[in-house]
Amino acid sequence: MDYFHYVDNQLHCEKVPLSKIAQAVGTPFYCYSEQTLQRHVRVFQEAFAPISHLICYSVKANSNLAVLDSLVKEGVGFDIVSVGELERAKRVGCPGEKIVFSGVGKRRDEIQSALDYGILMFNVESKSELLRLNGIAGEMGKKAPIAIRVNPDVDPKTHPYISTGMRTNKFGISYDQAIPLYLEAASLKNIEVLGLDCHIGSQLTSLAPFVDALKRVLTLEKELFASGIKLQYIDLGGGLGIPYEEEQVPPHPEHYAGVLLAELNNRNITLILEPGRVISGNAGILVSQVEYIKQGETKKFIITDAGMNDLLRPALYEAYHSVQPVERRFGREESVCDVVGPICESGDYSARERLLPEFQEGELLAIRSAGAYGFVMSSNYNSRPRVAEVMVRGDKFAVVRRRETIDQLMENESLFEL
Ligand code: LLP
Repeated sequence: MDYFHYVDNQLHCEKVPLSKIAQAVGTPFYCYSEQTLQRHVRVFQEAFAPISHLICYSVKANSNLAVLDSLVKEGVGFDIVSVGELERAKRVGCPGEKIVFSGVGKRRDEIQSALDYGILMFNVESKSELLRLNGIAGEMGKKAPIAIRVNPDVDPKTHPYISTGMRTNKFGISYDQAIPLYLEAASLKNIEVLGLDCHIGSQLTSLAPFVDALKRVLTLEKELFASGIKLQYIDLGGGLGIPYEEEQVPPHPEHYAGVLLAELNNRNITLILEPGRVISGNAGILVSQVEYIKQGETKKFIITDAGMNDLLRPALYEAYHSVQPVERRFGREESVCDVVGPICESGDYSARERLLPEFQEGELLAIRSAGAYGFVMSSNYNSRPRVAEVMVRGDKFAVVRRRETIDQLMENESLFEL
């Protein structure tokens, strides 16, 4: 459920008409609903309330400071993958003990910073990383708390680019190598084994792969116990999908929690979850303006001022994002068209072969479900400044990231002068 809705045929974010924001900040812009973000967190927290758990929002999904701040206020922790994300977590006051650090390529300086801040644990993805961690922790006179990310080899049945828990992926340690690596970890002087981690993919629309992964993880946990290693945490990663199309209804967090809780069966363990998309995805939209309508030879194009550099998902994953007029007018004719951007690539589209109302030049349109993996994946391709981000709280809104300027585009560049 989200708080983007029509009031008197004007699309609003909570109590603010999007046309009002467009007037104030120009287009394109991302708009986030604080109430929606917080609602999504509360639903998750309530669903897992029966057991000891920690929700570590996956910062990569949307790392705007205002977004993180509103989530920290709800008591969540963070799943981070870089020192940049760690810094964001610090700036919004997320305590170290609520941070887990994932990713296959943690650099030395990133490990040092995270150890220094006292994070809850590192989700270790290789033997080399484990040894590096042990070394750095030793130099710093600390013990590095860890979980090992195990690759449970289940097929999440999602887009291949966002499936991560299969044998062929670069992530985690294979199931068979897990026990020997745990035994090695337990023998290292500057390592403290705390948990077991897995993350099988993103935008999962069925629960079976989560249950399969948890079953495999719990089998390992038992085997580890028998070998004298008692885990305190099981981190199941993120991945729960969201509805991008109205017809598509992924499982509700309550249902998700229900099957996991049943599988855990009162085990004396703290469950960590790393949801990203399910928290921020439907809490954000991208608002853009129609520049031109062009009748091509075989189809009609709605050319907008937002391009694939602003929202990459359709170009990269052929992702579906619903497109709506900001001003709804009844009785408009409908036709099948492509909504495209100004970038010089044929993959630059937001919607393809979509039945849409007749838009007019100058009109505003909203690209929905853009709050996760939207702005964070944007770029300056075609020398386009990155767009503004706006947050709405009730009847108020604020720019939470200014639109980049043309000067900023070039501020780190210089001519080759010796
Ligand atoms: N934990 C780990 C270790 C992850 O790699 C990810 C996402 C998450 C948690 C959060 O997953 P979520 O709950 O958001 O599904 N750019 C792609 C999604 C890439 C996901 C990468 N990892 C997209 O736009 O669909």
